[in-house]
Amino acid sequence: MGSPVMKLQADQLRVLRSGKEVLSGISFAVAGGEVYGLLGGNGAGKSTTLATFLGFLQPASGRVLVQGRDVGADLAAARSAIAYLPEAASLYEHLDARENLHYFLQLAGVASGAASIEAALDRVSLHADARGRRLRDYSKGMRQKVAIALAILRDTGILLLDEPTSGLDPTAIDEFHDLVRGLADAGKAILMVTHDVYGACQVADRIGLLRGGQLVDQFAAPAGGRIDTESVHRAFSARQAA
Ligand SMILES: Nc1ncnc2c1ncn2[C@@H]1O[C@H](COP(=O)(O)OP(=O)(O)O)[C@@H](O)[C@H]1O
Ligand SMILES: [Mg+2]
Repeated sequence: MGSPVMKLQADQLRVLRSGKEVLSGISFAVAGGEVYGLLGGNGAGKSTTLATFLGFLQPASGRVLVQGRDVGADLAAARSAIAYLPEAASLYEHLDARENLHYFLQLAGVASGAASIEAALDRVSLHADARGRRLRDYSKGMRQKVAIALAILRDTGILLLDEPTSGLDPTAIDEFHDLVRGLADAGKAILMVTHDVYGACQVADRIGLLRGGQLVDQFAAPAGGRIDTESVHRAFSARQAA
């Protein structure tokens, strides 16, 4: 048996934006069952990396592969394999949670009945009383739950999360991380970009530290354990100061 096909792979990826190099040859891969935390400060290139996996940006050189296939060669296949949580989830404020899910699933061409929608909302622990209320009355944490329920219902093997916990309170962050961990344990490949050292260490199997478009450090969790927050924090601050 050969090694399993990685769900996501960046291979010497270089990306230019407005003529400026914002990713300078980064390489990493994410397998099913794994949470990879791409950690970096503002402007490090985190969102750019996600945009490239989604085919919104093209590599100047190098490649991005989704399930072993070049994104540029088969854009539709890549996008249908991925659920993406953008920084600000774009859901409809005047619709309730169920209506949002129904609408966006239909848009994605995913058949899904009322029962599976309730099951997904159970899974993300969105309070039953809230499900019929319009999103304009929701907290950020509640909106994130709806967005992740949508990702669950699309049932893709790959999740891209862009700063998913920014603006959440500590309880909501813990809940969100538990959910992400559970999805990975069920076999999904998860690429989470964040500037939160503690959160990345709480949930990631591996962390890549991105600075100025370069992967400057990588960390892996020991078997059965978590990545040590202190050492990542030290590397993050040292690199920031450098
Ligand atoms: N639409 C854009 N056009 C040109 N440059 C951009 C655009 N978006 C981001 N950039 C630049 O690309 C670099 C990386 O940005 P980004 O990937 O958004 O970083 P991060 O998500 O880590 O904060 C930054 O220097 C940023 O200014
Ligand atoms: Mg960003």
